Amino acid sequence: MIRILSLVLLLVSCTGMKAQEIMPGERWPDDKGVHVNAHGGGMLYADGTYYWFGEFKNDTTSVALDGVTCYSSCDLVHWKNEGIAMPVMPEESYSDIERGCILERPKVVYNKKTNKYIMWFHLELKGKGYAAARVGVAVSDKVTGPYRFVHSYRPCAGFWPENMPEKDRSLKVTPKDFAEWWTPEWSKAVEEGLFVRRDMEGGQMSRDMTIYVDDDGKAYHIYSSEENLTLQIAELTDDYQSHTGRYIRIFPGGHNEAPAIFKKDGTYFMITSGCTGWDPNEARLFSASSIWGPWTQHPNPCRGDDAALTFHSQSTFIFPVAGKKDAFIFMGDRWTPKHPSDARYIWLPIQFENGLPILKWMDKWSLDYFDTKTF
Ligand code: GAL
Repeated sequence: MIRILSLVLLLVSCTGMKAQEIMPGERWPDDKGVHVNAHGGGMLYADGTYYWFGEFKNDTTSVALDGVTCYSSCDLVHWKNEGIAMPVMPEESYSDIERGCILERPKVVYNKKTNKYIMWFHLELKGKGYAAARVGVAVSDKVTGPYRFVHSYRPCAGFWPENMPEKDRSLKVTPKDFAEWWTPEWSKAVEEGLFVRRDMEGGQMSRDMTIYVDDDGKAYHIYSSEENLTLQIAELTDDYQSHTGRYIRIFPGGHNEAPAIFKKDGTYFMITSGCTGWDPNEARLFSASSIWGPWTQHPNPCRGDDAALTFHSQSTFIFPVAGKKDAFIFMGDRWTPKHPSDARYIWLPIQFENGLPILKWMDKWSLDYFDTKTF
């Protein structure tokens, strides 16, 4: 009864709202008039509602003092603050997610088999800078949380990437053999799995990341690994709470971060950034007809002014709009490291040109855009 009542209330509030426009780069007030605080985020659509999860950032620091926030919306314009979905643990709790850790790029997926919501995020242990390079997992029975922290680790310990040639697995060269990075010899060694071998035992480094659930229910973790030099794509177990150990490397030495992926007509498209910290750079575009590759790189998907800086943003997620055909939204962050909570959101509709996704700046746009598009 209560469930039906809340569904009716939800429908009334959804249809009763006057949809406005999405304004990339502006402040986006939530239901309390406060700029949405959900950075490096991801979107989950469940029961007619969009749930946006992201990093809660403070005014002066990017380390996690609160946790992961959740906002809900029926129209992607009006956002209700659902509070902290996963709080960090108190100081001196010695938890992996102790207050003051770095907790970035949370993504939540729903597991049909277990009927649970699973949150994945990039985790750096408190006081250790970006050295830990782990991925963290938390679980909840309710979409808005609270999410219970399960574990954090470096993925795929003890497993070789499927596409790493046998001959490279037994090479003896180690990072210590190089006094200098970025030499041709070093780059060749990176391509041949220098850091994969180093991290074989302890697991592969995992920083910027996303999670993708495919049409067949299989889920994948896509992450910047090997000192941010190489992307890896790894399969998750059926409960979406760990890795199976099956994974591939893509673009060894390509220096890709901020992976965001979607699928259209059987083709996987991925947008990433280069590695320049909080500063924006030129987006990269890749496609593949199987998640296991081969992946092909295409030119910068951005068009027009500021295309070389992804319109001053960095990718974080791409999601389909419910009920509209070929309607995908690119979510990016325009970071403001001096005032982290004020960082802005660059959301743009994905357009297509010659079968490839492209992005064009728009000061404002509404979901109606997808009904009038000509691609
Ligand atoms: C970026 C990354 C962000 C954050 C930042 C820290 O490259 O995409 O998520 O880790 O570096 O400098």
